Amino acid sequence: KKVVLAYSGGLDTTVIIHWLKANYDYEVIAVCVDVGQGKELDGLEERALNSGASKLYIEHVVEDFVDDYVVPTIKSGAVYEGKYLLGTSMARPIISKRLVDIALEEGAEAICHGATGKGNDQVRFELTIKALAPHLKIIAPWRIWDITSREDALDYCEKHHIPVPMKKNNSYSRDRNIWHVSHEGLDLELPEQEPQFDSLLQMSVTPEKAPDEATYIDLAFDKGVPTALNGETMSCTEILTALNDIGGKNGIGIIDIVENRVVGMKSRGVYETPGGTILYYAHRELEYLCLDKQTLAYKEMMSVKFAELVYSGEWFTPLREGLTAFVDSTQETVTGTVKLKLYKGNIQSAGATSPYSLYNESIASFTTGELYNHKDAEGFINLFGLPLKVRAMMLKSHGL
Ligand code: ARG
Ligand code: SIN
Repeated sequence: KKVVLAYSGGLDTTVIIHWLKANYDYEVIAVCVDVGQGKELDGLEERALNSGASKLYIEHVVEDFVDDYVVPTIKSGAVYEGKYLLGTSMARPIISKRLVDIALEEGAEAICHGATGKGNDQVRFELTIKALAPHLKIIAPWRIWDITSREDALDYCEKHHIPVPMKKNNSYSRDRNIWHVSHEGLDLELPEQEPQFDSLLQMSVTPEKAPDEATYIDLAFDKGVPTALNGETMSCTEILTALNDIGGKNGIGIIDIVENRVVGMKSRGVYETPGGTILYYAHRELEYLCLDKQTLAYKEMMSVKFAELVYSGEWFTPLREGLTAFVDSTQETVTGTVKLKLYKGNIQSAGATSPYSLYNESIASFTTGELYNHKDAEGFINLFGLPLKVRAMMLKSHGL
């Protein structure tokens, strides 16, 4: 009998391998899904095997992550609770999907993950497994064992002679991929305190440390999908990588939020999403030019729901798929180029063009325009204001 374990190579999942061997009659197959953690993956196999795994899969899925999860989310405009760009949330479904694929290939009976019983990640892993392979058993050690802290985990390693390079020094709970890095825990658990950004940040600098000169960039999109940076055609993954560097240096995309978790509690986190923040902004600028009022407004409402679904682990649901179909149909004309100015944590628009622009100078300009007749406005306002007039007359007749 086999169990597939979501393995990061960190302390927790290393302990989990040993714990699984000790408590279950399973062969442990460790799977590390690379979504751009930026960590050294060498030596991971040795660590997994030394801890008792029978093999380690390393799955490189960065490009699929960007094309199939990140880009649809950018196109939707989804932002959770007005701030969070969903970096961890949208990585969990692709990780879980790879775990499921391997579990099926291996004929495994169960999938095990290292998310705690207090967080969102457990929900995301398990909803994906239920959606794709409901027969698989799920093992969540954090909801079973009595290890409750990093210290406990290190004591466990010492007791069972598991070699780990980690030390007892406290560290933040972090999750990194090509889109973002999240930070939670330690002093961040006190929302009244300002985060110690200088020791916290990993992808970016604070705006104070950004250059005194502004950086201009040009971003091109085709049907809502990023296609070129500064005139050079690149894959979305290459564009995102380049923007992480540019945005990071300019202090773009650092947010601090007290967010509502799926399990009911509030939690405080700091997120760095340098490239992603630029992509969202640029994409939105193009939509201002290319989408009509009704579509823009409806899409804005929809993006709140899209964000909720992604945050709550409901990627593989008919509603998320349906919303993606709606979004894609709105993106037919979201093609063009956006110029942005980046300066000390800020993004400013510096012009946008599109072959499908709905902006019509002849109509909009104060100086020109045979397409627009000022006299039409009078009749329009009379009818638009009719309900207001009727109500005002009614109120007056009652002396109200
Ligand atoms: N609060 C964020 C979210 O729910 C980040 C979670 C980070 N996960 C982690 N295992 N460190 O998406
Ligand atoms: C965890 O609890 O495993 C990480 C945080 C989260 O999932 O929200």
